[in-house]
Amino acid sequence: VAVKLSDYTPYPFEVEQVDLRFDLDPEDTRVRADLKIRRTGDKSAALELDGEALELKSIAIDGTALDKGAYEVTESGLTIASVPDEFTLTTDVKIAPASNTALSGLYMSGGRFCSQCESVGFRRITYYPDRPDVMSSFKVRMTADKETCPVLLSNGTPGESGDAGDGRHFAVWDDPHKKPSYLFALCAGDYDIYRDQFTTMSGKVIDLAIHVDKGDAERAAWAMDSLKRSMKWDEETYGREYDLGVFNIVAVRDFNFGAMENKGLNIFNSAYVLADEASATDADFEAIESIVAHEYFHNWTGNRITCRDWFQLCLKEGLTVFRDQNFSADMRSRPVQRIKDVIRLRARQFAEDAGPLAHSVRPDTYGAIDNLYTATVYEKGAEIIGMLRRMIGEETYRKGMDLYFERHDGQAVTIEDFYACFEKVSGQDFTQFRRWYAQAGTPEVTVEENWKADSNEIEITLRQKTPATPGQPVKQPVPIPLNMALLDEEGNLAEWMTVLEDEEVTLTFDLPDGTERPLVSVNRDFTAPVRLARSLSREDRLQLVRLETDPFNQWDGVQTLAKEEILALAEGSQAEPDADLVDAIATAIEGALGDPAYAALLTRLPDVGEMFLERQPADPVALNKARKKLQKAVAGKLEDLIISVLGQPSPQPFDPGAEQAGTRALRTAFITLLAGSGREDADTHLLKLYEAAPNMTEKLAALRGLAGLEGEARDKALADFEEAWKTNPLVMDKWFSVQAVTADAETVAKLAAHKDFDLRNPNRVRSVVAVFAMQNLSAFHAPDGSGYKVVEEIVRKADKANPSLGARLLTAFEQWRVLEPQARSEAEACLRRLQGSDLSKNSADIVARALG
Ligand code: ARG
Ligand code: ZN
Repeated sequence: VAVKLSDYTPYPFEVEQVDLRFDLDPEDTRVRADLKIRRTGDKSAALELDGEALELKSIAIDGTALDKGAYEVTESGLTIASVPDEFTLTTDVKIAPASNTALSGLYMSGGRFCSQCESVGFRRITYYPDRPDVMSSFKVRMTADKETCPVLLSNGTPGESGDAGDGRHFAVWDDPHKKPSYLFALCAGDYDIYRDQFTTMSGKVIDLAIHVDKGDAERAAWAMDSLKRSMKWDEETYGREYDLGVFNIVAVRDFNFGAMENKGLNIFNSAYVLADEASATDADFEAIESIVAHEYFHNWTGNRITCRDWFQLCLKEGLTVFRDQNFSADMRSRPVQRIKDVIRLRARQFAEDAGPLAHSVRPDTYGAIDNLYTATVYEKGAEIIGMLRRMIGEETYRKGMDLYFERHDGQAVTIEDFYACFEKVSGQDFTQFRRWYAQAGTPEVTVEENWKADSNEIEITLRQKTPATPGQPVKQPVPIPLNMALLDEEGNLAEWMTVLEDEEVTLTFDLPDGTERPLVSVNRDFTAPVRLARSLSREDRLQLVRLETDPFNQWDGVQTLAKEEILALAEGSQAEPDADLVDAIATAIEGALGDPAYAALLTRLPDVGEMFLERQPADPVALNKARKKLQKAVAGKLEDLIISVLGQPSPQPFDPGAEQAGTRALRTAFITLLAGSGREDADTHLLKLYEAAPNMTEKLAALRGLAGLEGEARDKALADFEEAWKTNPLVMDKWFSVQAVTADAETVAKLAAHKDFDLRNPNRVRSVVAVFAMQNLSAFHAPDGSGYKVVEEIVRKADKANPSLGARLLTAFEQWRVLEPQARSEAEACLRRLQGSDLSKNSADIVARALG
């Protein structure tokens, strides 16, 4: 049954205080909840509480046990038909964290207790109105075995602690800030702890601690450094200070997502905490920095001000992604960050928007809430905030944010509440703009130029159109802010921002006598999340790349050229890559060597999946071949440069910061090109690089290059890597991934049969299945259906234990409709088999929508 935004009604009670008592045991945990409740709505309203997988042991109101007939327990909750206007409800339930394989609620990972409550995990801990608009003060007392659980953590501030007899001890935590249940957290176990302090802008000293596996403490140093920089950045950029005396992070091995912003107790997938030179790549360091920031920033955008209901998820997620992207841009290079954000957006969000799973940033209905944590809600949600800021300017944006914090602190609000703040400070009306939240699909902007040489006039016509998406056949225009420029040999003739409000607009520029035809640069810095349609000649496109002064658009110009080339090669309208084009790519790379991080991005060729959006039906096998052909040509052109750069030593001593990471990014880009060069000695060269690499970034690049080749060097490196890292699960995930990314179905089956493949560990499953199905498209979409079958088999098993994981993996099928007929019919058959079988509710929702 679908949930609808229009069905929203406030909860008819207020929960003034929550007292929780946990008696922790892996098989038999007892949770006693005392809820102080006051009626705020309808006099006759029954008390309805959510609850799932709970065994109710006792229930009482104001200390008097309820008669059996006074309440009703179902699979999804508990109802008490008649309650007083003010009372304390006491329930006692039994749960079994050790058998909780869904990793939602209270569960065990690596022998320790941990929790994940967003969105609806708290109802798997106790009976409660598990919805974000019910905010309350939580007090937690937990008791656990002293030896296995010396550390006991929850939200807020630590209180009393001490011996509890019988080899057990207790601790009390008190959270002074009212919060919804999805921000509750509890961790208990034995950890190594990396500690530090942060002094806030008003002089308060905060105790910071990161809890990790035994022996891993030093690997938390970078996460801690990232945390302190995040705290400082939020003070400087948004005027936001931390509001508790302690801030704890716990790293867990088995986690369904990246991390979770629980109040004062962030819980992280260990992949986004642990890093050092030997075991982590620069991409890992970067991801840690951005996710630590993301979760920390949620303290204000998410926790202090939260969502009224889950339809408003983008209120906290889009905004917080926007904030973390800007943090990363400030820590590193703004243009490089922008390019990376757009690569991610195009790969995941544009694909989602173009397929059967398309939905608006704020949907008005959903089947399974877990399936709403999408690239659209997060990444497109962030792009919308970026457009808002461009349209009103940085200063007004900050005023609007200040007003938002002032008006809504402590509340659970909506997108409308958020925009009301910006309307107030800017005097503008955002009714039209908010269509961005309601309409799914990526708008396409067509650009037409008309140069009148005799009158030195250029006319630029911009048209927008958003394609139909499931349930939304007709679209309306949305305001699209586009940074634009006219370019000639001298540089910028003009630079401006146009907001395309209507379906079409024509701009006319009178240029001085004797001006040559200028080139038009559109959507500079990717001001709007749209696709551009322009019929430019290859010559014009080459010229545009040469003259471009905006780093994003220069990079994007190269991407567009490469895209068209790959399509031409795949379609057979061209046998070999065009020499001028290969020259232009090589020249752009050589010209950018002063900024190696940027140069590295110029070497990147568009992924096969991006090409699906360009021409349909899509033939991934042909596209993959074509892409390799172009890569080989570029590698050939740059051969001397590649050999010379790789002949230089890697920067020492290691530093994870942007500068060295940029140097290494270019080195690894060149390692990738070397692997694709077709040189006969490529494998021996790569093996040498693999053996000599002083850090994981370059070691893994060499290993990935080798994994895509055949022969002794490959086997040797893979065996060596496995032997060296078999006891480090995060590094072993990489070992699985480098193989999955070039594997055929048979190899995937072998990887899944490896003794270290673990269906219960989401990171491990993703390192094989998600990597294969989402980054190795020519094999996943193999015309014989072998890729689908191997994924289907693993996903069925994973889904049984962990629905959230199963459903996430199945989204790989979202592009099936645009494939060439053979793969398409195999994909459909696979989806039909899945539909007819016993899947979790989450997975069934994905399959049903994919089939449409
Ligand atoms: N709020 C978390 C974050 O973005 C993610 C929680 C994911 N939960 C889920 N049910 N998918 O930081
Ligand atoms: Zn988030």
